[in-house]
Amino acid sequence: MATEGFDYVAHPARVLFGSGTASRVGDEVRRLGGARVLLLAGTSVSDAAEQVCATLGPLLAARFDGAAMHTPVEVTEKALAVLREAQADCLVAIGGGSTTGLSKALALRTDLPQIILPTTYAGSEVTPVLGETSDGQKVTTSSAAVLPETVIYDVEFSRSLPLAMTVTSAVNALAHAIEALYSPQANPIIDGFALEAIARTARALPLLVGGEAASATDVAAGTSDPRADLLRAAWLAGTCLGAAGMGLHHKLCHVLGGSFGLPHAETHTVILPHAMAYNASDAPQAMRRVAEALGVEDAPSGLFDLIATAGGPTSLRALGLAEADIPRVAQLAATQSYPNPRELTEDGIESLLRDAWHGRRPAASSSALPDTARLTEQVVGSFDHAPDPRTRELITSLVRHLHTFAAENDLTQEEWQQAIDFLTRTGQICSDTRQEFVLLSDTLGVSSVVDMLANSRTPGTTPSAVLGPFYVEGPPDTEQGADVAGGLPGTPLWVDVHIADAQERPIGGAVVDVWQSNDDGFYDVQLPDLDGPVLRARFRSDEAGRLRFWSILPSPYPIPDDGPVGAMLAALGRHPYRAPHLHFMISAPGYRRLVTQLFVAGGEYLDSDTVFGVKDALIVDFAEGNGPTPDGRSVQGAWRSVEFTFRLAAEGRELPVR
Ligand code: BEZ
Ligand code: FE
Repeated sequence: MATEGFDYVAHPARVLFGSGTASRVGDEVRRLGGARVLLLAGTSVSDAAEQVCATLGPLLAARFDGAAMHTPVEVTEKALAVLREAQADCLVAIGGGSTTGLSKALALRTDLPQIILPTTYAGSEVTPVLGETSDGQKVTTSSAAVLPETVIYDVEFSRSLPLAMTVTSAVNALAHAIEALYSPQANPIIDGFALEAIARTARALPLLVGGEAASATDVAAGTSDPRADLLRAAWLAGTCLGAAGMGLHHKLCHVLGGSFGLPHAETHTVILPHAMAYNASDAPQAMRRVAEALGVEDAPSGLFDLIATAGGPTSLRALGLAEADIPRVAQLAATQSYPNPRELTEDGIESLLRDAWHGRRPAASSSALPDTARLTEQVVGSFDHAPDPRTRELITSLVRHLHTFAAENDLTQEEWQQAIDFLTRTGQICSDTRQEFVLLSDTLGVSSVVDMLANSRTPGTTPSAVLGPFYVEGPPDTEQGADVAGGLPGTPLWVDVHIADAQERPIGGAVVDVWQSNDDGFYDVQLPDLDGPVLRARFRSDEAGRLRFWSILPSPYPIPDDGPVGAMLAALGRHPYRAPHLHFMISAPGYRRLVTQLFVAGGEYLDSDTVFGVKDALIVDFAEGNGPTPDGRSVQGAWRSVEFTFRLAAEGRELPVR
């Protein structure tokens, strides 16, 4: 059997690791033949910098504190002037990626030896790569000339890194380790570094975040110090970055940071689980090893959970990326070709970015889940002999969606049982006058979707709206001009509507059923004490297509919310109210039946109608009445009137389906 080979290239590195190692900086300077040090220090590490200054004593020739993100060339030039002025012969840098970047940029230009004391986990101190910006353009150089001669990791210096930065910086390091595992340059040495870095990070982060930092005795015994673990992981992961090419994850972070100004470590933190999920199907072995090192079942979702529990950022939205920029990011990340386990497609990357933008937990990858696809096919196959093709089509689609829903969400048995109990209660509360399934369909917007599919294909006609559960077949035949309120209290309302075709030609003899709630928001069927139907009637339009009658102004009302649907709305933080409306059902020979509603302009809940029934074209002015009423009826106090023309679609004139 042939053995799979590998190439291994090591970069020279002298690493001094431990607690208090910074005290050795003077010896290192002398070892490198230096006598005049330029100290580069970030402003956020002033205590550590003071300590290093004191240690250096007379070796310190000058200090520069102005390092900036992305290593701008202008800053490097300023530092270069300080370096020359001080006749420095050795660089000592203390800080995160920006300070290290500046040190490398200076070394590239002067060939001076460098000693770097990292205070974050970015890892760039052990890579031969330097990214600089000039006129807003990023230029990357890879050269042994930028590698520091000595790296001093002093665990004590890393202790003051704030928790939020600790998390993002540690995940930034994880990204190097994880992408190294599926890199074309992967080899057993680097794999070992990567897996150890991942395991140490997974062990340390929860301890730090939980405030359960190891006890002083543990630290003294060197047995369990999360800060030491993280710093060691950073070194190992940085070494991975220096030795192996990076893939989609690093490319995306580069685009998001370089072209969209997103913060470096935070972006790594949000993107990594999603980039892993994207690659999982094509790097199953690497993902299994990552999962094992993290101590989780599935690497991408396990890492997402680790980040979320550690309080790290999980969405690009929170980092300030505009949703509208997603396609452009995807395009930029997909254009250049670079090695990546899974083929790079703009669509695929866009969907990855959308998940990351919303902060969705990546679905467990198929390698970690039982393969449900075969079962789905078996079930779908069992419909092969269904006599009605449409039944087969619908059930097949439903089953596929349900199986995918369960698999994608890693649905638990308890959750499914809850769903079944909910549906059971929904059925149990149904009666001749209570249809909870309709309410469920309405409040989930399904009724409105089906209504749109069926009734929005005829331009120029009045939009339809949901029927609702309160229509009663065969309402009482009523003469035009009558009052349907049956003496119930409320603001009198004069309704004056026309029934017409799409060209506004009148339709006489149309059957028009109307129904509405009373002033308190109840329909007659909800009030068992009422004698007979009220606020519902059947009219016929006159020769001119016109219909006039009296009623009362409808009020907003809650849909019945004492059952499972009400409980669902409460669980979702939603109110149960409908915007005030009048219902109409209009039929005429040769025309499609129109079921619709007129909404009171300015009424409550127009923007949040709980059954998603409101359409702009159905919001109508229910005007204040002035002077005598249209039919001369005498009315006490204020009254309102509404006018509207309903335009019916001719039978068989709708736009074709799809
Ligand atoms: C209604 O307007 O009558 C209604 C519609 C959907 C659900 C509940 C009530
Ligand atoms: Fe209603």
